[in-house]
Amino acid sequence: DGLAHLTLLRYLRDIGLRGTKLGCGEGGCGACTVMVSCYDQSTKKSQHFAINACLAPLYSLEGMHIITVEGIGNCRRGLHPVQERLAEAHGSQCGFCTPGFVMSMYALLRSSKQPPTKEQIEDSLAGNLCRCTGYRPIIDAFGVFAKTDDSLYTASPSESANGKAICPSTGKPCLCRNETDVNGNESSLLSSVKTYLPSSYNEIDGNAYNEKELIFPPELQLRKIMPLRLNGFNGVRWYRPLKLDQLLQLKSCYPEAKLIIGNSEVGVETEFKNAQYGVMISVTHVPELHTLKVEEDGLRIGSAVRLAQLQDFLKKVIAERGSLQTSSCQAILRQLKWFAGTQIRNVASVGGNICTASPISDLNPLWMSTGATFQIIDVNNNVRTTVAKDFFLGYRKVDLKDDEVLLSVILPWTRPFEYVKEFKQAHRRQDDIALVNAGMRVHITEAEGNWIVSDVSIVYGGVAAVPLTAGKTESFLVGKKLDYGLLDEAFNLLKEDIPLAENAPGGMVEFRSSLTLSFFFKFFLYVTHEMNTKGLSEGLDVANMSAIQSYTRPVTTGTQGYELVRQGTAVGQPMVHLSAMLQVTGEAEYVGDTPTPPNTLHAALVLSKEAHARILSIDDSVAKFSPGFAGLFLSKDVPGANNIGPIRFLQKKNIGPIIHDGEVFASDVVTCVGQIIGIVVADTHDNAKAAANKVNVKYSELPAILSIEEAIKAGSFHPHTTRCLSKGDVELCFASNTCDKVIEGEVQVGGQEHFYMEPQCTLVWPVDSGNEIHMISSTQAPHTHQKYVANVLGLPLSKVVCKTKRIGGGFGGKETRSVIFAAAASVASYCLRRPVKIVLDRDVDMMTTGQRHSFLGKYKVGFTNDGKILALDLEIYNNGGNTLDLSLAVLEHAMLESENVYDIPNIRASGKVCFTNFPSNTAFRGFGGPQGMLIAENWIHHMATELRRSPEEIKELNLHSDGTVLYYGQLLQNCMIHSVWDELKASSNFVEARKAVNVFNSNNRWRKRGIAMVPTKFGISFTTKFMNQAGALVQVYTDGTVLVTHGGVEMGQGLHTKIAQVAASSLDIPLSCVFIAETSTDKVPSASPTAASASSDLYGAAVLNACQQIKARMEPIASRGNHKSFAELAEACYMEWVDLSAHGFYITPDIGFDWNAGKGTPFNYFTYGAAFAEVEIDTLTGDFHTRKADIVMDLGYSINPAIDIGQIEGAFIQGLGWAAMEELKWGDDNHKWIRPGHLFTRGPCSYKIPSVNDIPLNFKVSLLKGVPNPKAIHSSKAVGEPPFFLASSVLFAIKDAITAARAEEGHLDWFPLDNPATPERIRMACVDSITKKFASVYYRPKLSV
Ligand SMILES: Cc1cc2nc3c(=O)[nH]c(=O)nc-3n(C[C@H](O)[C@H](O)[C@H](O)COP(=O)(O)OP(=O)(O)OC[C@H]3O[C@@H](n4cnc5c(N)ncnc54)[C@H](O)[C@@H]3O)c2cc1C
Ligand code: FES
Ligand code: FES
Repeated sequence: DGLAHLTLLRYLRDIGLRGTKLGCGEGGCGACTVMVSCYDQSTKKSQHFAINACLAPLYSLEGMHIITVEGIGNCRRGLHPVQERLAEAHGSQCGFCTPGFVMSMYALLRSSKQPPTKEQIEDSLAGNLCRCTGYRPIIDAFGVFAKTDDSLYTASPSESANGKAICPSTGKPCLCRNETDVNGNESSLLSSVKTYLPSSYNEIDGNAYNEKELIFPPELQLRKIMPLRLNGFNGVRWYRPLKLDQLLQLKSCYPEAKLIIGNSEVGVETEFKNAQYGVMISVTHVPELHTLKVEEDGLRIGSAVRLAQLQDFLKKVIAERGSLQTSSCQAILRQLKWFAGTQIRNVASVGGNICTASPISDLNPLWMSTGATFQIIDVNNNVRTTVAKDFFLGYRKVDLKDDEVLLSVILPWTRPFEYVKEFKQAHRRQDDIALVNAGMRVHITEAEGNWIVSDVSIVYGGVAAVPLTAGKTESFLVGKKLDYGLLDEAFNLLKEDIPLAENAPGGMVEFRSSLTLSFFFKFFLYVTHEMNTKGLSEGLDVANMSAIQSYTRPVTTGTQGYELVRQGTAVGQPMVHLSAMLQVTGEAEYVGDTPTPPNTLHAALVLSKEAHARILSIDDSVAKFSPGFAGLFLSKDVPGANNIGPIRFLQKKNIGPIIHDGEVFASDVVTCVGQIIGIVVADTHDNAKAAANKVNVKYSELPAILSIEEAIKAGSFHPHTTRCLSKGDVELCFASNTCDKVIEGEVQVGGQEHFYMEPQCTLVWPVDSGNEIHMISSTQAPHTHQKYVANVLGLPLSKVVCKTKRIGGGFGGKETRSVIFAAAASVASYCLRRPVKIVLDRDVDMMTTGQRHSFLGKYKVGFTNDGKILALDLEIYNNGGNTLDLSLAVLEHAMLESENVYDIPNIRASGKVCFTNFPSNTAFRGFGGPQGMLIAENWIHHMATELRRSPEEIKELNLHSDGTVLYYGQLLQNCMIHSVWDELKASSNFVEARKAVNVFNSNNRWRKRGIAMVPTKFGISFTTKFMNQAGALVQVYTDGTVLVTHGGVEMGQGLHTKIAQVAASSLDIPLSCVFIAETSTDKVPSASPTAASASSDLYGAAVLNACQQIKARMEPIASRGNHKSFAELAEACYMEWVDLSAHGFYITPDIGFDWNAGKGTPFNYFTYGAAFAEVEIDTLTGDFHTRKADIVMDLGYSINPAIDIGQIEGAFIQGLGWAAMEELKWGDDNHKWIRPGHLFTRGPCSYKIPSVNDIPLNFKVSLLKGVPNPKAIHSSKAVGEPPFFLASSVLFAIKDAITAARAEEGHLDWFPLDNPATPERIRMACVDSITKKFASVYYRPKLSV
C-alpha cells in the first residue's frame, strides 16, 4: 500500500529494473514497453499483451504477471531468441529504444498461437519509435519469427532452392551480400538465418520459444480477485470495485472520483497538465462494463471494453454476419487500425475515449454518424439512453452527471443499401491523432424507380470543440439521387456547416477545410461505386476509382549490397555492435540508469515563460515549503562565471574574441521561452518539478523577434556573422548575354527536433566536499562539459571530470546544448555539496534545447537553354535563436555545401545568422549541409521547370568531375559522383520507372506517383581547423586483452565497434580481446565533440598510432621468442620492462580555410552518394507513402559495412522525417493560436518522427565497390551525416507527383514546396476545385522559419 500515485514504470525503475526506459512518459514512444499477462477464470486461459509502463498505474496491474526485458534473457543466462535476433541483425544502435522493441515482439509471439505474419509484426511495432536504425534491420530481425513460406525458413541455406543465401529482408534467395577478399575476388556469402518456431504452446503460458521461458505463475491462477482500496502520496486513493453496485456506491460517496480504465487520457492529464485526482476508481474488473454482445438490434459494447478487444470482436462479428449488416462495424474496425499503437489499444477503452470527448477522437464522429446510442446508469441504478449525437456538449464536456457512469454503447446494424465510411487524416498514418476525421453514413432507398437518399449522417471531428454534424448538407441530400450534379451545392453547404475561423486552434485552416470537402467527395464516389457494383448507378470512370482505394501497406522489403574487404583480423567485417547484447537485454546502462549515490538530490528547472522580457522578481516563498524542497539556485548563486557559450574565433588568423553570449541562469533579461532562470533541487524528481512550478517569476514584456523574416526586417543578426564567398563574376555574367534565362526565387527550409530517444541527463557529484567535481553525462562532448562546469564553478580543469559510457542518441543535440543542464546542476551540487541528478522531461527537452536551424535562401540563377548553369547569386540566412552557439559554423557549412555537386562558373554566396527569440538552434546531423544543398536542389528544380526538362537531366549535365575546383578553392580529387549517379540510374532503372509512373498517373486522377534522383557530396572534417585532432590511450594487459580509451563518444553509431576493429587488426588479435569501457576526460584530454562524421577517421587513426607504438615496443621481444599467443607475448614484454600503454595522437593533414580570403581546403575529402525515391500521394488528402528508395554511396573500403549500412538507413529515415513529416510549430506570426515564442510540438504526440510504417516499402542500399579512399584510415570514408540529405529525394518525388496532379488542372508553372512536405503542403499544392474554395492557387502553407 501507499503507491497509488505511481506508474508501473516509475515503480520498476525505483526497484532497480532499469531495462525498461523512459523516453517520453506520454505513451508515444514505446521505450517503456513491458508484457502483461492475466488469467481469465471463465475461459481458463491467460492473455498476454504489450503495454506502455509509463501510463500504467501500478495498482491497475494487481493480480497480473508482468515481464520486463530483464525477465526474458540476459548475457549470463542466455539471450531470448527475440533478443538474439535483434542483436545479430544489427537492429540496435544506441539501444535506448531496444528493450521496448524486444518486449513488443515478445508479447506478440507469446500472445498468438500461430506464428504471426510479417504484416502483424510490422503492425505490432507501430507504437515503438527508433531514431537510429531506420527500422529496416528491426523488421528483418523479427521477420524470421513470421510464418511466410515455410520452406524458405526451414531449409538450411545450402539446401535452398538454387544454393543462394536467403535474404533476411525478402525471405527469398538472393545475392545481396557478396564477399570480396582484399584482392577483389567475389564469393557468395551464405547467410545463416535461423528458423524460430515456438518450442511449445499452452493455453496458459502462450508460446514458448525456449525452455527457460517464464510461465504464468500458478499462484496467480489461483489468486482470488479482491476489491481494492489502496492509498498513495498526498492522500490519493485507489479503488477497484468488482461489481457494478460497488462502483455505483463508490460513485455516490465520491461523485468527483475519476474513473480509470486504460489511463491513457488521465495519465497524460496528470503528468503533463498538472491535473490531480484525489480518488480514482479503476473499473477494469466490473463485468457489467465489459459486455460484448450481439443483440437483435445491434452490438452492445461495454464502456470498459479495451480497443484491442473491440477489434477482435468486430472481426468475428463481420466474419459471421457478412458485410450487409456490418457496414458500421467495418468502418469502426478500419478506423481502429489507425488508432494509436498496439500498446495503447491494448489498454485504452471505448468509454474512456467517449467520456474524454476529445475534439479529435477518432471514434466519436463514427458513433454519431452510425446512430449509436449510449446507455448511462446513475448511482440509484436508473438507466437512461441517449443518442451519441446529443452526448457531446462542449470542449471535453459530455452529458454525464457526477453521479452517472457510461454503461455501454449500442451500435445498430446497417440496413440493405446503407453505407458507412470512416475518414482520418493525420500527420503520420499510424499512431497519430487526427487533423480532421469523419464518419459518414447514407441510406439509399428506391422511390418511384429512383434510388434516392432517405437518410444521411455526416459528422466531422477535429474541426471544433465537439464533433460537428453537417446539418444543412444532410437536409439537402435527403430525397436526392446521388449524382455529380449535386456535388457543388453540397460542397457549398458543407462550407457553411463546417466553418473554421482564421485563428482556429490547430491552424491549417485552409487545409482542414479542404479535407472536409475531400472526405465528402470520397464518400460520394464510394457510395456511387457501391451502388454501381449492384447495378444501381452509373459506374465510376477508371480515373475516379483512385479516390476510393484505401491504403493498405504490404510488408517492407530491403536489400543491402556491399563488398567485404578484410584487413587483418577485424577491419572490413560486418561485426555486430559491441554493446548489442547488453542493449537487447536491457543490461546496457545509460546515465539515467546509473544507481545514484546516497543523498542524491533531483533537479527541475525554472524556465522562462516569455520570449523576451525583463525579469522583475523571482519569488520562492511558496516553493520553499513544497515537500522535499532542498534549494533554489539562481544567477547570483553561481560561484564562477555565469556566462556560457561555445568559444568562437572570429577575427583574422583564427584568433579573436571569445564569445560567451549565453547565461547559465538568466540574470536580468530572458530572451526566449524555456531559457533557464533557476534550478530547484528536491528529494525526488516529482517534488523538484512541483517546487519549480511554484517559483513565481514576474516579467515585463519586451518586443520579440520570432522569424527570420522579422529578423531581416529589424536587422537582428548575431554580431560578426556575415559571411561571403565568391568565384567568377556574377554581375558580369547576368549583365552579359550569355544567360538565356534568369530565374529568382526563395526557399524556406524547416527546422527539425533531434528527438534522441534518451532525453538530456547528467549526474554530478562533489568529491572531497567539492574540491573536485565529477559527473557522468549524456553528451557528445565530455570535454566541453568539463570545461564549462569548471568555468561556472571557478575550478581548474584538472579538478573536473566528465565521463560518458554511451548515450541514447545525440545527432548533434548533445554537442553544446547538454552543457547548460550539467552546468546548472553542478551549481546546486557544488553549493549543497550533494550529488544532483537532472533528467529532462521530454517536453522540457524539446522546448529548451534548440533544434536544426531553419533557413531562408534567396537565389538568382542564370543558365543556358541547354541547361548549363552559368551564374548563381545566393543569400542565405539561418535562424540562430537567442545565442550564437554553433550557428555561425552551421551557416558556414551550409554555404560550403551550397553548390551541392554542380559546376557553377560564377557564384556569389552571402550569409547571416539571425538573432531571434527562440532557444538557441544548434548542431544536427549534417550541420547546415542539408539546408545548403536543399536550397540548391530547389533552384535546380526551378530551372528544370523553366526549361520543361526533367530535373535529373539538368543535374546530370552539371555534375562536378575530378579536378573541379570548388567555388571556395578546394580541388576535387577522386570525385565519385559520376560513378554513384550512373550506378543509381541503372540500379533504380530510372528510365523505366519514369515510364511506369507516367502510365500510372494518366490512369489515376486522385492518386499520383512521382520519382526523383538526388545526389550529394559531403565534406568531411570539422570546418574549425583546430578541432581536427584526436587522442587515444591503448593499454595492453598481461592476459592479452586490450583496453582502449579515446576521445569519441558511443552514441549508437558504432564508433567503439569500429575503433575496436582497428585496434584488433593492428595488434593482430581477435576483436573479443579489445574492450572500450567509456569516454573520460581524465584519460584522454581536450577531445573535440563527437561530431562532423569524422570520429572514426580521427580516433581510428589515433588508436592506430598508439597500437603501432606498442607493437614497435613489443617487436624485439616478439622476434626473440616463439610466443603461442598475444597473451604470452604481452606477459613476456611485461617481464622485460616494456611499457604496454601508449597514447596515440592524430591530426588531419593539409586542411585549413581562410574566411577573409574565402578560399582554402576546409575538407579532408568528400563522401558521395545519390538516392532514388518513388512515392505515391493521395491528392485529395495529402497522404503519401514511399514506395521505393534506392541509395548508392561511396564509402571507400568500409571498416564495418553492417554498421555503415545502418548509418545510411538511419540517416535516410531521419532525413525523411525532416523532408516530409516533422514540423515544428512555434508561436509566431504564422501561428497565432500558439502563445508567442512557445513550442506547440513538444512531445511524440504532436511531433511525428517516422515510425516503422513510414519507411520505404522497398528499401535498397548499396555501396560502391572497389573504391579505396586514400585520405582516411584503412581506405574507409565517413558516413554519419552524408546520407541524411539523400532523403530529400522523397521530397522531390512528392513534388514530381504533385506536378502531375497540377497538370490535370492546367497548372504547369513552377511552385514552391517547403519541407516538411506534410499532408497539408501536399494537399494544398494539388490545387483543384476543392482547394480553390479556400485558398488561391498560389497559397503556400505557413511554416515556422
Ligand atoms: C499515445 C496515445 C495515442 C493516442 N491515439 C489516439 C488516437 O489515435 N485516436 C483517438 O481518438 N485517441 C487517441 N488517444 C487518446 C486515448 O487513448 C483514448 O481516448 C482512449 O480511448 C482513452 O481510454 P482510456 O481507457 O485509456 O481512458 P482513461 O484515461 O482511463 O479515462 C479517460 C476518461 O474517461 C472517463 N471514463 C472512462 N470510462 C468511463 C465510464 N464508463 N463512465 C464515465 N466516465 C468514464 C475517465 O474518468 C476519464 O475522465 C491516444 C492517447 C495516447 C496516450
Ligand atoms: S516512455 Fe512510455 S511510451 Fe514513451
Ligand atoms: S537504436 Fe533505436 S533509438 Fe537508438
